[in-house]
Amino acid sequence: MSEESFTITDNRSGETVTVPIVDGTISSAALRELDKGMWFYDPAYMSTANCNSKITYIDGGNGILRYRGYPIEQLAEHSNFLEVCYLLLNGELPTEAEAEEWVHHITYHTYVHEDIAQFMKGLRYDAHPMGTLVSTVAALSTFYPEAKDISDPHNRLIQTHRLIAKMPTMAAFAYKNRLGLPYEYPVNHLGYTGNFLRMMWNVADPGYEPDPILTRALDILLILHADHEQNCSTTTMRTVGSSNADPYSAVAAATCGLYGPLHGGANEAVIHMLHDIGSFDNVTAYVEKVKSGETLLQGFGHRVYKSYDPRATIIKKTADQVFEVTGLNPLLDIAMKLEEVALNDPYFIDRNLYPNVDFYSGLIYEAMGFPMDMFTVLFAIGRTPGWLAHWQEMLDDPEQKIYRPRQMYTGPDERDYVPISNR
Ligand code: CMC
Repeated sequence: MSEESFTITDNRSGETVTVPIVDGTISSAALRELDKGMWFYDPAYMSTANCNSKITYIDGGNGILRYRGYPIEQLAEHSNFLEVCYLLLNGELPTEAEAEEWVHHITYHTYVHEDIAQFMKGLRYDAHPMGTLVSTVAALSTFYPEAKDISDPHNRLIQTHRLIAKMPTMAAFAYKNRLGLPYEYPVNHLGYTGNFLRMMWNVADPGYEPDPILTRALDILLILHADHEQNCSTTTMRTVGSSNADPYSAVAAATCGLYGPLHGGANEAVIHMLHDIGSFDNVTAYVEKVKSGETLLQGFGHRVYKSYDPRATIIKKTADQVFEVTGLNPLLDIAMKLEEVALNDPYFIDRNLYPNVDFYSGLIYEAMGFPMDMFTVLFAIGRTPGWLAHWQEMLDDPEQKIYRPRQMYTGPDERDYVPISNR
């Protein structure tokens, strides 16, 4: 921790304050000493740290990502998704006994109430699975009204188990609904990710076993998506949670945040883009369109990473293993050419635009057989423990209150109401 500071003088009063700089951050409270009515205009929170957090560390300049201190590369290589969920929520890796108990609790909650299954069937037959997921997670709050008691840590834990456990079930049901196929109910001995793959792909085969390489690859992808500090959806989770809403409502809101193409929807947008480009030969022309501002290079750029996203590096390696099982995704060549052209072009170099997590993940999902509109759903399953860890951390943080930023009013001054006949 540094002991730097700067001094600021208020030209209106001549008063001076010394503002400590802690880890590159100044506290608004120190500046407001000068003037209690002063606000900080920071559109899109470009310069704002809204909380202290012990969960995830990102060094965007050097492409570093750690969960609770553990490098993402080590977790992707040695851990598994449920263990990472435990780590994010509890701060430590579980012992064998803790891991066994944790897996038991998640397994115990994978079924959804039959009325939830029926509720999902009530949505339009071709509903986007993210729309279905958002609605169904929100509907869960009506099934667990006791979740409103967010002050009881044990009660919070049960809702946490339920949410992590039921996300894959709801995701697979959303997919099956679209096809008019019957739901596959959870078979828990296959493990969290294997069970999900079975619920997705199995039709009428009681002995169905998911491919172990694809199961491991998806598990790694879930690990990579499990948390990313104060991104749009996690900030939404904290914002809604700060009003003491129940966790189902808050996770539904966070899922809505994830749905957008600038956040979790980008993996879907990447595949659309690669299909639009269509061939290796069209890559340069597409890059020119991006540079002219006509379109975005989807899966490139990040608010925090100003170098290669470490998750993209791991995904690229995982892709090779997946393609050995599924065969090569023909879009891979276009993606790799696109990356090569962009990484050597001053437009992208000057703006520090590198591939992010979404650039290659969609290629893997597509090769595994997931339809494009399921990609963001997979992201949501992975991000659920991160949302819940932040929710819990926020509720336990004595400095946190209901989120209530201010605005700079730029509308008209007071004016008198004009009757409609005189307008
Ligand atoms: N393609 C072309 N130009 C870009 C891109 C891109 N993907 N991203 C940023 N730029 C340009 C942008 O036009 C701006 O240029 P200029 O300075 O000339 O105006 C400059 O780079 C800075 O960009 P910005 O929009 O101010 O950056 P931001 O931090 O507000 O946006 C972002 C970050 C991720 C929304 C943006 O890079 C983007 O839209 N990327 C494409 C969508 C995407 O891949 N999203 C997934 C993000 S990672 C996973 C997740 O968080 O969900």
